[in-house]
Amino acid sequence: MPRATEPTPVHDSLVLEPRDVRFDWSRLPLHWIPDEPMATHTINVLHLLLPEGERWFVRVFKEALPMITDEQLREEVLGFIGQEAIHAEAHQEVLEHLLAQGLDPQPYIRQVSWFFRRVLGDKPGLTATQRRENIIERVAVVAAVEHFTAFLGNWALNSPGLDRAQADPTMLDLLRWHGAEEVEHRSVAYDLMVHLDPGYLRRVRGMAVSGPLLVHLWVRGVRFLLAADPTLHGRVKPTWREAQQIGRRGLLPEFGRMTRSAVRYFKPGYHPTQEGSSSQALSYLATSPAARAAAAH
Ligand SMILES: [Fe+2]
Ligand SMILES: [Fe+2]
Repeated sequence: MPRATEPTPVHDSLVLEPRDVRFDWSRLPLHWIPDEPMATHTINVLHLLLPEGERWFVRVFKEALPMITDEQLREEVLGFIGQEAIHAEAHQEVLEHLLAQGLDPQPYIRQVSWFFRRVLGDKPGLTATQRRENIIERVAVVAAVEHFTAFLGNWALNSPGLDRAQADPTMLDLLRWHGAEEVEHRSVAYDLMVHLDPGYLRRVRGMAVSGPLLVHLWVRGVRFLLAADPTLHGRVKPTWREAQQIGRRGLLPEFGRMTRSAVRYFKPGYHPTQEGSSSQALSYLATSPAARAAAAH
């Protein structure tokens, strides 16, 4: 039974539609935020992490499907799976473009792939009870990561600094289309976790794993990209101070905001619908060039 302090999962007739978007990267400059290699590559870490990460979400949620006893939640999970599968492919195409520009992302991708498959993958040889527990634990990790993807999505939808800096419009559409869908489906992983285990400790453990893991992977990813960028010759070294200054100019999310958002995840009355705006997300999706082209197919 849910504890008294837990919110009731919100089922507000969420219908998640996978939008089969396409982007043309042939004219994307390597530094798609002009003269801002560190900001560009800090955001580019998304393209390194998301294809493997979101395919892992899809595998975990497919494993969890038989455990769902609420028909509406099951529909939402299926919609979530459809959206995340398309997100992974959209970011994968950017990786191929980076390779064509002389930046080989494979050494980092191999590490991320190993991590998601071996460390966070399905464990063979478990009893039925252990397997159920293992799946719920991984759903809790996804729920906490989805708190961050919704935070980043909300930031991408409200980032006029990127427009002022004349960031590439196709990349902005990818970030905002994806960000809008992250805001749109931000409750699904959390509601699934609460459906399978309403306990507060599960939520805390999910964030205790996801928060430090994401910071670690992100820092490594930024270092990797700046070192592998053939135009920089290893001259740009990332520092926290510079990342903070870039954040103040509106080209990256600010650490303080992100940390405060992570802390809100621990509040007893937390629910993902308290973060971001569904109506803003849907209104972006109604005007996104890629989403509109997908709808016209
Ligand atoms: Fe996604
Ligand atoms: Fe997501």
